[in-house]
Amino acid sequence: PSTRTPLVAGNWKMNFDHREATYFVQKFAWLLRDAKFDFRRCEVALFPPFTSIRSVQVLVEADRLRIRYGAQAVSVTSQGAFTGDVSADMLAHLGCSYVIVGHSERRKYHPEDDANIVDQVRAVLAAGMQPILCVGESFEERRQGIELDFAVSQVHDVTRDLSVDEAAKLIVAYEPVWAIGTGMVATPQSAQDAARAIREHMRTQFDAKTADAVRILYGGSVTSRNAVQLIQEPDVDGFLIGGASLDPDELALIARLA
Ligand code: G3P
Repeated sequence: PSTRTPLVAGNWKMNFDHREATYFVQKFAWLLRDAKFDFRRCEVALFPPFTSIRSVQVLVEADRLRIRYGAQAVSVTSQGAFTGDVSADMLAHLGCSYVIVGHSERRKYHPEDDANIVDQVRAVLAAGMQPILCVGESFEERRQGIELDFAVSQVHDVTRDLSVDEAAKLIVAYEPVWAIGTGMVATPQSAQDAARAIREHMRTQFDAKTADAVRILYGGSVTSRNAVQLIQEPDVDGFLIGGASLDPDELALIARLA
């Protein structure tokens, strides 16, 4: 297990309207309280769709919950005539701690290229939040045996313009595309290999202190059945969870195992 505080993050994707989000948070908070969950040992964060963030905030503030939350994407501009966009400041003012940036679904269904992803990272940092940068190879790169180079180059394309101070606030999520929503989880060894390669790259590009501090999550078909083995790996510092994060019992169980 790593020496960094693990982060268990639930990416709800396009699920849960504000009423469902309210129900989830109430039940989830109750489960963690009942289990005497230690939030100093492990951080827990939820990523609702934009329209449900305010409902999560209201509950977190009213009940002083130690659950954190964030958004799944952000605009690269700060305000103005950008129909349909949401700015980093708007998210920060809702109490968001994190923003997921460059998720493979965003890279696929929206025009998010490296330049746009760098700008999102910058916007998140400037608003005082932490970006969770998603990288990971598709099945084709894995078949060719170039998955580590691919993930590292995706990290490099975003981090090459960052300062050490900016890089220190980054969280990286290694999510191999073939593992997302398929039930085909990466083996603990391949999650570790990718996390190690990314950390080594951060060490070369920045310094040992930054590389040691950066949290690297694994994402892709994480459940309570595979979480224990994955978290044993020294460079895996937590999870970014899709499907399994929609069940409060399952997410609470993963948080307890992490
Ligand atoms: O961001 C988390 C995600 O892409 C993984 O999804 O459903 O495989 O846990 P899932």
